[in-house]
Amino acid sequence: MNIHTVATTPFADQKPGTSGLRKKVAVFQTPHYLENFVQAVFDCVAAPPGSTLVLGGDGRYYNREAIQVILRMAAANGIGRVLVGQGGILSTPAASCVIRKYQCLGGIILSASHNPGGPAGDFGIKYNTGNGGPAPEKITDAIYARSRELGSYRIVAAPDVPIDRPGTHALGAMQVEVIDPVADYAELMEALFDFAAIREMLAGGFRLCFDAMHAVTGPYAHEILERRLGAPAGSVINGVPLADFGGGHPDPNLTYAGQLVAIMYGTATATPAPDFGAASDGDGDRNMILGRNFFVTPSDSLAVIAANATLAPGYAQGIAGIARSMPTSAAADRVAEKLGVPCYETPTGWKFFGNLMDAGKVTLCGEESFGTGSSHVREKDGLWAVLFWLNILARRRMPVEEILHRHWAEYGRNVYSRHDYEGLPLDIANGIMAQVRERCGDLSGRRFGDYTVKFCDDFSYTDPIDGSLSTGQGLRIVFDDGSRIVFRLSGTGTEGATLRLYLEAYEADPARQQVDAQLSLAALIAIADEISQLRQRSGRERPTVIT
Ligand code: G1P
Ligand code: ZN
Repeated sequence: MNIHTVATTPFADQKPGTSGLRKKVAVFQTPHYLENFVQAVFDCVAAPPGSTLVLGGDGRYYNREAIQVILRMAAANGIGRVLVGQGGILSTPAASCVIRKYQCLGGIILSASHNPGGPAGDFGIKYNTGNGGPAPEKITDAIYARSRELGSYRIVAAPDVPIDRPGTHALGAMQVEVIDPVADYAELMEALFDFAAIREMLAGGFRLCFDAMHAVTGPYAHEILERRLGAPAGSVINGVPLADFGGGHPDPNLTYAGQLVAIMYGTATATPAPDFGAASDGDGDRNMILGRNFFVTPSDSLAVIAANATLAPGYAQGIAGIARSMPTSAAADRVAEKLGVPCYETPTGWKFFGNLMDAGKVTLCGEESFGTGSSHVREKDGLWAVLFWLNILARRRMPVEEILHRHWAEYGRNVYSRHDYEGLPLDIANGIMAQVRERCGDLSGRRFGDYTVKFCDDFSYTDPIDGSLSTGQGLRIVFDDGSRIVFRLSGTGTEGATLRLYLEAYEADPARQQVDAQLSLAALIAIADEISQLRQRSGRERPTVIT
């Protein structure tokens, strides 16, 4: 085999963020940039000879080129076999599913998730370990450290491997197996959910609209929703994956999934809106759930799934516990309390859920950022959440909105919203955080209108399984009644800084639960501005995105 050792110099900026290394495509196209990072991964993973790796991505621009480079490097680094999704495609949850099912050493996933794609867009790469989940911080830190010192990488000289048809190919001593990216995942979904009940509901005239946003879930949704469950053709929109996501921003929220929102709020056509709407992001791990004229916040979605979990065959025995990221609302905590199971509060990012799931402490996990999932894989899972909702709807036979109203009447409503200020200059964003951090010290006991501050801190977390400590995970101001304001800087952006302001107010009174969230939260929004001087410091009158 023709292995080359190529001399290189380190790049200083290959520090993985909330979810892997994300940069502009042009950065990844810098000579040796991708190769350096991949070599750092191989050096840290120290794969035993003959190991099997999974490789695939969300199909965005540069996916196919990167796949070929990584295959050649895997062969040069002693990997025995690589399972590649056909066409280089694997959604993030499907990659996790395949790693687990075939007990692979781990996997490399190419994605920048919900960030825009195309030549001027973003690209990303991350390593997942043998449990199917994102590498924990001690591995990503080691990869970063290695990336700063390596002097060469290994690669074989060989022609491109044909990846557009299932089959097996040799690349030096390594085997490349091109697999159907959908089959294993679809089979897992059939094992978890009551497909017969959903099929019957759909046959009875229940209408759904799933927006794949021209990203990776198109083929998965066509196969599962239309072919296996019998939703009429056309139920899946924007179902053809495109390298630039059709110029869109593949983030399933009220702003970027505008076409779906218009359909579900009945402003798109004269026909009544479908009963259920959903969307997923670039790599298929996020989800947005809508009813007719109704938006389900991701925090509420987690709580509703938890409260109704036993309606799905895969969860009929009940759940072991729930975990949610710190900025996610406490709606799930209330359900956990009622079920008598633990609820864990972790830092932002799916990697913090892995240990809890591996240890059997939790079954369901969720983040306010449109991420929900369970221990069936070790990633959040967009279509899984959609199928869970369809399963619940097929069994409860009432509109989405009514399910929520009944849920709030039983548990109270954690009114919730997130305000994102995108593309801020770094120093301005840091200045706002510094301002809040400085005020933190003397806020305890202070009154702001009806709200009294209970405490204010910078969230830190000690992993209950391995004892690792993560600090600086977001500034939170918690009030006496459990209402909260959280400030956090995004760790996934590639341009400037994104400041996230998370707002939560508890409303026990059913008569006031249906008030618009922004109205209910108006007082907290004003307090957040007073403490942070956000508007004045940023010069922004309003957030870029409100969810
Ligand atoms: C964002 C979300 C976070 C999620 C991550 C990856 O990270 O807030 O919950 O895990 O994307 O999808 P952030 O940009 O806030 O660091
Ligand atoms: Zn994603």
